Amino acid sequence: MSQQQSETVFTYGAPQLKFGSGASDEVGYDLSQYGVSRALVVTDPGVAATGLPQRVADQMGRFGIEALVFDGSHVEPTDESMQQAIDFARDAGPFDAYVAVGGGSSIDTAKAVNLMMTNDGELMDYINVPVGKGANPANPLKPLVAVPTTAGTGSESTTVCVLDVLSLKVKTGISHARLRPTLAVIDPDLTVTMPPGVTAASGLDILCHALESYTARWYTTYDRKQPEQRVPYCGSNPIADMWSEKAMSLLGASFRRAVHHGDDREARHDMALAATFAGMGFGNAGVHIPHANGYPIAGRVRDFQPKDYPSGHAMVPHGMSVALTAPEAFRFTFEAAPERHLRAAELLDPGVSGDGGSADTLPAVLIDLMRDIDVPNGIGAVGYSEADVDDLVEGTLKQQRLLATCPREVAAEDLAGIFRASLELW
Ligand SMILES: NC(=O)c1ccc[n+]([C@@H]2O[C@H](COP(=O)([O-])OP(=O)(O)OC[C@H]3O[C@@H](n4cnc5c(N)ncnc54)[C@H](O)[C@@H]3O)[C@@H](O)[C@H]2O)c1
Ligand SMILES: [Zn+2]
Repeated sequence: MSQQQSETVFTYGAPQLKFGSGASDEVGYDLSQYGVSRALVVTDPGVAATGLPQRVADQMGRFGIEALVFDGSHVEPTDESMQQAIDFARDAGPFDAYVAVGGGSSIDTAKAVNLMMTNDGELMDYINVPVGKGANPANPLKPLVAVPTTAGTGSESTTVCVLDVLSLKVKTGISHARLRPTLAVIDPDLTVTMPPGVTAASGLDILCHALESYTARWYTTYDRKQPEQRVPYCGSNPIADMWSEKAMSLLGASFRRAVHHGDDREARHDMALAATFAGMGFGNAGVHIPHANGYPIAGRVRDFQPKDYPSGHAMVPHGMSVALTAPEAFRFTFEAAPERHLRAAELLDPGVSGDGGSADTLPAVLIDLMRDIDVPNGIGAVGYSEADVDDLVEGTLKQQRLLATCPREVAAEDLAGIFRASLELW
C-alpha cells in the first residue's frame, strides 16, 4: 500500500452552548455548577459602557461568587494589550473562572489570560510558529464562559486566540484545544446595542467563515494523518457543510436588516444564530484565501479609521479585512467546485438561481451585499494602492496554514491578481 494514503477521517469539536434571549442572566448559576467562588469578567471599554458586563457580574453575587471586572481589553488585541490584561489578573488573582463579555477581542483576551494564569512561561512560548514557539499548554485551563456581544467571530466556540505581534507587525494566534471556552452563552439581546459599522464588519466575518469553510478543500483530498498529527481544521466535511449552509441562509434573510434596523430583534437573533453556526463550521473545516489576505490588510493599515469603532485608532476591522478580497477570491476558486459556489450564491440570495451560473455569480451577490451595508469600496478605500500589492502578497504567503485549506493551488501571482482586482469592487 502506498504511503500517500488519502484521509478518511474528520473530527468535530464544539463547546457546551446556551443560546437565546435572556441566556446571559443565567451565567451566575452556570458558574456555580463549576464550584466557582471568584471570577474575572473580561471586557473592553465600549462594551463596558453598555452596562452589560457589570450586569453579568452583579448576578454572580446571588450565587456567592465574587466577580471583578477588567474593562481594558484592546479592540483587536496585541501582544502588549494581552500582557497588560495578564499582569492585571496576576495582581488581582487568583481566580477560579473567567467570563468574557464582548466581541472577539474580549473573548480572545480572556483566553490568553486564562492560559497564562494556569501555565508557566511567556505568551510568546504559546504563539504559533514561526512567530512564537507553538508550545502546548501543559496544564488544563480554568473554566471560561464566553458571552459574545457581537455576531461575528465565533470565538466563543473556537480553540483560537488571535493577536497582533506589534514588533513584527504580524497578526497571528495561539491555537490549542484547551483554549476552547467551557461554555458559550449566546444571548442575541446583547447585540442590539452594536452600532451599524460593527454589525456590518462582524457580520462579514460570519459570511467569510461560512463561505470559506464551505469551499475549503474536501477532507479526503489530504494525505492520511496519524492520530497525533490531527489539527482542528480538517477541510470541508459533511458536518461543517451543514452548519455553513444554514449560516448562509440566515445571513441571506437578515444581514441587511440587522445593519439598517439594529433594533430588529428577529434579525439580531438570526445573526447570532448564523455566527454560532458558522463558528461550528469553520472551527472544524478551516478558512482560506480571504482570511489569509485579511491578515496583511489589517496588519499593514496606515491611517484608515472605520466608522463606529474607537476613534483615534487606525485599523481595518477583522471582518472588513477578510471580506474586501472575498469576491475576487471566490472568482478564483470557482473552478475547483463550481456547484458549491453556485449553491452558496443561492443560499445568500434566494433571488439568484445557480442554474447557468458562472464564476461571476457569487462575486456579484457578495458585492451587492457589501454595497448595501456600506462597506468601503475595495482595498483602495482603506488606503492601499497598486504599489502595495507585492507587500500584501508577501504577507498572505506567510499564512501557509490557511492557504493549505484552499481548494486550488494558489501562487504568488494568483494572489497579486486577486489584490489588484479588489482595489475597487464596484
Ligand atoms: N478567536 C477566534 O476564533 C476569532 C475568529 C475571528 C476573529 N477573531 C478576532 O476577533 C476580533 C474582532 O472581534 P469582533 O468583530 O467581535 O469585535 P470587537 O470585539 O473587536 O469589538 C468591536 C467594537 O464593537 C464594540 N462592541 C462590541 N459589542 C458591542 C455591543 N453589543 N454594543 C456596543 N458596542 C459593542 C466594542 O466595544 C468595539 O469597539 C479580532 O481581533 C479578530 O482577529 C477571533
Ligand atoms: Zn474571521
